[in-house]
Amino acid sequence: MKYPKYERFGRLRKYLQEVFGMRRLKADKELWAVLDPICRASSSTGCTFHELNVLYSHILKHRPSRVLELGPGVSTIVMGYAAKKVRASGGECQIVAMEDIPFYHDDLKNLLPAALNDCVQLILSPTEDREINGFIARRYINTPHHEYGLVFIDGPQIPSQKEDPRYLDGDILDVAEWNKKPFTAYLDCRIGTRDALKALMPRATIHWDKQHKFSRIEFSSAT
Ligand SMILES: C[S@@+](CC[C@H](N)C(=O)[O-])C[C@H]1O[C@@H](n2cnc3c(N)ncnc32)[C@H](O)[C@@H]1O
Repeated sequence: MKYPKYERFGRLRKYLQEVFGMRRLKADKELWAVLDPICRASSSTGCTFHELNVLYSHILKHRPSRVLELGPGVSTIVMGYAAKKVRASGGECQIVAMEDIPFYHDDLKNLLPAALNDCVQLILSPTEDREINGFIARRYINTPHHEYGLVFIDGPQIPSQKEDPRYLDGDILDVAEWNKKPFTAYLDCRIGTRDALKALMPRATIHWDKQHKFSRIEFSSAT
């Protein structure tokens, strides 16, 4: 049964979060000078302002020394400016961004401001598929084996759930194996990946934001 009143409340909440997210990003003048023209030129950045702000604010609050981004784009620029702020206040922070399609890799390389060269490492890497417990995990082959405090999963592209429900974005399985400390991951849409992770990593805690179709996943060291 549907409750229209609550659905309207959900839409209002989403709208307010968008406005708040945009304001928060606008307050970083250096970031906004780059982001604003990009957003004006494109009707969609991939992520909503709320999601971009969640990533930006998470980095400023938790100051992870390494962030792994799987499937870069505008979000890389936003996280790059957050990393720059962390560094400016004496911290360490590097964004490692994995892409498998040369066209999108070159596109972002050209778009990335020179001010972010030290903060962002863009890596072009082929992907491979691995079978695991009846699922097919697609992963970038050349992801550097570091400890990551934050992972943002927005790639690689996999068949839709309708086309083949066995696929998931599988790099997070590797990170969970080589990371020694607990860490957080965010997952944009990718409901097939979310459901596969529930089955493959039952001890990870998944918070699902229905309005934004955005998940936050907490991995403990014993996940
Ligand atoms: C959804 S995009 C990543 C977007 C990025 N995380 C953001 O929010 O700004 C995920 C992958 O899709 C591919 N991609 C990028 N732009 C695309 C486009 N306009 N159309 C189709 N695929 C795209 C790239 O291979 C990229 O790694």
